[in-house]
Amino acid sequence: MSDLEFHAVLKTSDLDPGEAKQVLIGRKEIAIYNLEGAFYATDDICTHAYASLADGYIEGDRVECPLHGGCFEIKTGKACTPPCVEDLKTYTVKIEGDQIFVGLPRG
Ligand code: FES
Repeated sequence: MSDLEFHAVLKTSDLDPGEAKQVLIGRKEIAIYNLEGAFYATDDICTHAYASLADGYIEGDRVECPLHGGCFEIKTGKACTPPCVEDLKTYTVKIEGDQIFVGLPRG
């Protein structure tokens, strides 16, 4: 049995290419991104201070935080420019039909 539990979050049509949206799974804030038709999920809250990356700017495969301009690689969560030094958590995304699911560890 998979150790991930999948949660339905958005429809694929909810998010245009180059867009991100915040979703809540329980109390966890997660950002869902559409990069040219492929979907990715990371923690939504910047690792530097408190800002929603879903409100940031997507440039290619990166998201720029709206508060102090640090960047992360969306696919890997890697912090790539200061002041961000701590990587973001990333999550498994699965698409079934037009439904986007995010996998979180069980429990
Ligand atoms: S809160 Fe994101 S760069 Fe500072």
